[in-house]
This record gives sequence, C-alpha cells and structure tokens, in this order.
Amino acid sequence: MDLAGTTVLVTGASSGIGRDTAILLSSLNARIVLTGRNRDRLRETLARLDGQGHRVEPFDFSRLEEIADWLRSLTAGAGPLNGLVHCAGVELISPIRFVRQQDVEELVRINLLSSIMLVRAFTQKACHATPSSIVFLSSIMGTNGAPSMSVYGASKAALIGLAKSLAVELAPRRIRVNCVAAGCVQTEMLARFRDLFSVEQFQALERAHPLGFGTARDVAHAAAFLLADTGRWITGSTLTVDGGYSAQ
Ligand SMILES: NC(=O)c1ccc[n+]([C@@H]2O[C@H](COP(=O)([O-])OP(=O)(O)OC[C@H]3O[C@@H](n4cnc5c(N)ncnc54)[C@H](OP(=O)(O)O)[C@@H]3O)[C@@H](O)[C@H]2O)c1
Repeated sequence: MDLAGTTVLVTGASSGIGRDTAILLSSLNARIVLTGRNRDRLRETLARLDGQGHRVEPFDFSRLEEIADWLRSLTAGAGPLNGLVHCAGVELISPIRFVRQQDVEELVRINLLSSIMLVRAFTQKACHATPSSIVFLSSIMGTNGAPSMSVYGASKAALIGLAKSLAVELAPRRIRVNCVAAGCVQTEMLARFRDLFSVEQFQALERAHPLGFGTARDVAHAAAFLLADTGRWITGSTLTVDGGYSAQ
C-alpha cells in the first residue's frame, strides 16, 4: 500500500481510532488533514505523523449546516481529497427506558447526520479527486445486538445502509464508499464503557472477543486497506474487524 500523492481527511483524529488511522496513513505517505474539536489533541497527533504537508483543521460536526462551506474552504487550501475516513463518533449506553430524546438527537447528529452531510460536501466538484474513497467507522453493534446499545447500534447500522446506496450512486463518479465494523477496541471510548460495567461484565465482554479486545491500529489497517488502491474493486462493503466477536 502506498498513498504517496494523496490527501486524506481523517475525522476524530484527536483520539483513538482516528488518531492511529492518521498516523498509519502518514506512514504510507499520505498527506493528512486532521479534524476534531480539540485543537491541542489534534496537534499531538500532528506531532506523531510521518512526512510533511499535514494540517490541523478543527471542526465540530454538530454544526451540520456549516459542513459544506467548511469542506470547501478546507479543500481550497489543502487541495481535493483522495480519501475521507470518518472516525468522529460518540456513544450512548443506556437501557431504552432511560433514553432521553435529546441524547438520541445529539448522537444521531454526530454519528449519522454528519456522515451524510460530509459525503454530500465531499461530492462537491472541487472537494474530491478522482478516484476517491470514503470509509465510515461502523461497529459490530450495528450488526449484532446487545443490551443498552440500541441507539448507538441503530446509528452504526444506518452507516452500513448509507454506504451501500452511496456506493451505487457514486460509483460512476469513481467514489468508493465502505464501512469498517469494529469490535471493542482499546480507546477512550472503551474506557468510558468500562466505567459503566462491573469488573465481571467487562471481563465477559472481553471474553466475547475470541482474540480479545483490539487496538486502534488493528482498525486503522482495515481503513487503510479500503482507502488505498488495494480496495479499488471494493465498494458498498462492510469489513468486519472484531477479533471474532460476530463469528459466534
Ligand atoms: N472503541 C471502540 O471499541 C469502537 C468500536 C466500534 C466502533 N467504534 C467507532 O470508532 C470511531 C472512533 O472511536 P474511538 O474509540 O476512537 O473513540 P474516541 O477515542 O472517543 O474518539 C472519538 C473521536 O470523535 C471526535 N468527536 C466526537 N464528537 C465530535 C464532534 N461533535 N465533532 C468533531 N469530532 C467529534 C473526538 O474528537 P474531539 O473530542 O476532539 O472533538 C474524538 O477524536 C467512533 O465512530 C466509534 O463509534 C469504536
């Protein structure tokens, strides 16, 4: 895999999977545009990238109506994007009877609506190169059920459906769209899960992954594979990277 000469926007690049994806893609010679809300943490990621020409462009994806303008001005500076890895995401872990509408709306805004508006913006003429590739971070919670995960799981399942129709619609423009459905990966998000579980529950969750919990780097490899020329004949797919969780 070689991404020399490409520019890739990585969202959620201030933490976890997004951070490791940015680091890996830079080691494959891509120029990275890093985004997230936390400028200091984006700069920490920037300091860990290989090569030159990367940039930090902080943005809050809850500002849906500003995404198109933001991407236009970003690409006016960075050039058209060859790739987008959309890792920004939030979780909601709650039995359905405690779920509040406001929390659902907030989660759907970040996990789903930002994905839709980002792709809409990406398809603007000067914003993407040809060919190009988009990867969404879905989850095994979008394909397998678990208590307290209904709202989060619904948002991640929606990405799988979104990717399929976008893949068909955008193939004539040579824009590929795929998902990675990740199992539990050791990031700050998983640390927040742990705080809500008993020790026994958390150990059971790890045992449910035959290969144990994954690392952000494990997921980054899958995103890179789909993004690079190795994925040139793959679109509308969901690559499961879950240590065997969903094989059972
Ligand atoms: N960890 C897992 O086990 C796991 C499993 C399956 C799928 N996933 C998915 O993988 C993706 C990355 O998860 P992670 O584990 O790396 O989580 P993480 O460490 O909590 O990172 C989440 C990232 O999302 C960004 N973000 C959140 N809200 C945002 C907003 N309103 N605007 C812009 N950026 C925002 C955060 O950046 P700022 O704080 O700087 O805004 C941060 O960089 C998520 O979509 C998650 O659902 C994770």
